Amino acid sequence: MSAPLTSSAFAALADLLKTKSGLIIGPDKTYLLETRLGPVLKRAGLTDLNALAERVKRAPHDPIARDVVEAMTTNESFFFRDDKPFQHFRAQALPRLLAARPASATLRIWSAASSSGQEAYSLAMILAESKALLGSRTVEIIGTDIARDQLARAQQGLYTQFEVQRGLPVQMLMRYFKKEDANWRIADAIRSMVKFREWNLLGDLRALGLFDVVLCRNVLIYFDQPTKARVLDAIAAQMPTDGALYLGGAETVLGITGRFAPMPGERGVYGVNAARVAA
Ligand SMILES: C[S@@+](CC[C@H](N)C(=O)[O-])C[C@H]1O[C@@H](n2cnc3c(N)ncnc32)[C@H](O)[C@@H]1O
Repeated sequence: MSAPLTSSAFAALADLLKTKSGLIIGPDKTYLLETRLGPVLKRAGLTDLNALAERVKRAPHDPIARDVVEAMTTNESFFFRDDKPFQHFRAQALPRLLAARPASATLRIWSAASSSGQEAYSLAMILAESKALLGSRTVEIIGTDIARDQLARAQQGLYTQFEVQRGLPVQMLMRYFKKEDANWRIADAIRSMVKFREWNLLGDLRALGLFDVVLCRNVLIYFDQPTKARVLDAIAAQMPTDGALYLGGAETVLGITGRFAPMPGERGVYGVNAARVAA
């Protein structure tokens, strides 16, 4: 039987997670460390979490630190999650932004914690259905995440029966997916509309360029207030003043940053607060 996790080992692992990914983990979540890090221990031939903590403390740049971070991410996602943001994007943000841009401008959309790709592909399917509105416009969709295993899944575009039954309208399943044994593969036409890249939201976001639309959903909930503020402010700096930000149902900018303001009458949609950006 492995030794119980010591408080200093817990502190070392919690510190690693906070520094590298923003994830806050309290002592009540020790069970999560135990269940999720089991496979990491096994691969590294370590006996328990105390040995793992010792190793990351001694060598914070050891690749195992990355494995720990990745194993502790929560990657749940599904197509058209919460639906409302996608309805808003399709009916409000997209027509408004297209009208505001010259025909030669590329519209850029960012799924900022894209996990296994469902969010970015939901946007791509909306765009595929909005051909009349788009005309010859170029649209770029970028999906980024810290978890390499999820990015690889997203790039493959292969989903289980369970995954395609969560949120994806059946007409879209028929139109944009092909059955492949027990799974469903997204059509190349949709897959090629999205580029996935490894990116840490705590890192420098400037090299990603500017985005007209950002979805940063169901990731800020894992961060503490200062980290939420830092990430939101960095995102605001990558958006034009008429851009649209979508957050998850349990997330808000209120009380965290003045760089975004809620769009009147809309839940979970935020505009860049021009006054604060200029300040
Ligand atoms: C619960 S999923 C959300 C997926 C999708 N946005 C949705 O709402 O369905 C959260 C994702 O955030 C990613 N993540 C966590 N910390 C991150 C960070 N510091 N930088 C980039 N991605 C991060 C995780 O790897 C995970 O895939």
